[in-house]
Amino acid sequence: MKEISQRAKQYIDQLSLSVEKNIPYVTPLTASLQANKWCNSRCEYCGIWKSNPGNPLVKDLFLAVNELSELGVQMVSLTGGEPFLNNDLYQVIQRMNDKRVISSTMTNGLLLNQKHLQPILEAGLNSLCVSLDSIDPDIYRSIRGVSLGPVLKGLKYVANIRSQYPTLFVVSINCVISKANIDGVADLVAFCNDLDISVGFQPLHRSFESRYNPERLQFLSEDLLPLKRQIEKLIKMKQAGSRIDNDEAYLLGFPDFLVYKRLPERTLCTAGFTTISVDVDLNVRSCWPKKPIGNLHSQKLTELWHSDIYSQNRASMLALDCPKCWLRCHTDYLSVQWLMNLLDKILLAKSIKSEFRGEA
Ligand SMILES: C[S@@+](CC[C@H](N)C(=O)[O-])C[C@H]1O[C@@H](n2cnc3c(N)ncnc32)[C@H](O)[C@@H]1O
Ligand code: SF4
Ligand code: SF4
Repeated sequence: MKEISQRAKQYIDQLSLSVEKNIPYVTPLTASLQANKWCNSRCEYCGIWKSNPGNPLVKDLFLAVNELSELGVQMVSLTGGEPFLNNDLYQVIQRMNDKRVISSTMTNGLLLNQKHLQPILEAGLNSLCVSLDSIDPDIYRSIRGVSLGPVLKGLKYVANIRSQYPTLFVVSINCVISKANIDGVADLVAFCNDLDISVGFQPLHRSFESRYNPERLQFLSEDLLPLKRQIEKLIKMKQAGSRIDNDEAYLLGFPDFLVYKRLPERTLCTAGFTTISVDVDLNVRSCWPKKPIGNLHSQKLTELWHSDIYSQNRASMLALDCPKCWLRCHTDYLSVQWLMNLLDKILLAKSIKSEFRGEA
């Protein structure tokens, strides 16, 4: 653990200098790469599922992985749409492995079965993050428009593989907190505890591509106190040993963000240095809510990273001249510590990883 903190400390030192001078002395810890844009879910707060079906060419995803690896990105997280709908996903993960980039993917969990999971585990997937907003079937369906059954079945399948091969890959849950599910978050934590899977929370945002955000999911000023109480409950559960991935300071920012769309005072966003986003058409963004600043079909990422346009973008991000999100990977030095801990957890699992024999 000593080494881990030292690594984080060194990165944060370099990052502080980068922030001070607006010069990237660091390369991103993580990147988010869109593996496709279509989806088999129907989430109320996300418009991606309205996109036409189809996957990008695998050679384009390879190009993105090559460029991200060349830049020095430590972990690439495949997102979507629904990545599991892309049958080439295992090849992309294999490519990350070849390039010694830590591989991660997010999924809505509807296809968490042997047919879809086995190829990507055999390809060397390091980290799997499953979205789960509620364990109540009615609430789940009301938010995500589809049935909870396959997701719960899939999670049990994953938990079973992990009990056989504990170090094969890291699993976590991502839950988007909205007015529709806030009363069930403690039950969700208890469910994750039972499966021995950690859970992270993220507040509902309006700044995603769809900007579709129905009123019933949003908190009003009269919801502030009950919301604060639920967040305090989560913090107490974390203090009592529940595996909640978020930092307490981050969770404390939820009520103001969810009710008033306000970030805590003196928020510093370091996302322009620590993360990078590449969409399905290979457009590069300094963070998802911002406009593209280049494209990997015509530009080298290493050049873009050090370009004036990127530097202007970073300046606007540091000044919070942006949609002002409260995503855990996008805020101050605490998020760096969190990202670093995640990377170290995965690296540790990798170093003692046993062979996946495809017996599950
Ligand atoms: C865009 S999805 C892509 C991966 C996959 N389809 C899934 O749902 O996990 C990535 C994550 O963003 C979350 N998300 C989508 N729209 C959101 C919003 N408006 N506010 C907060 N999180 C959102 C999803 O719940 C999911 O955990
Ligand atoms: S959040 Fe994920 S599962 Fe839901 S519609 Fe968007 S892409 Fe699909
Ligand atoms: S706070 Fe602003 S700059 Fe930072 S990630 Fe969110 S939208 Fe981007």
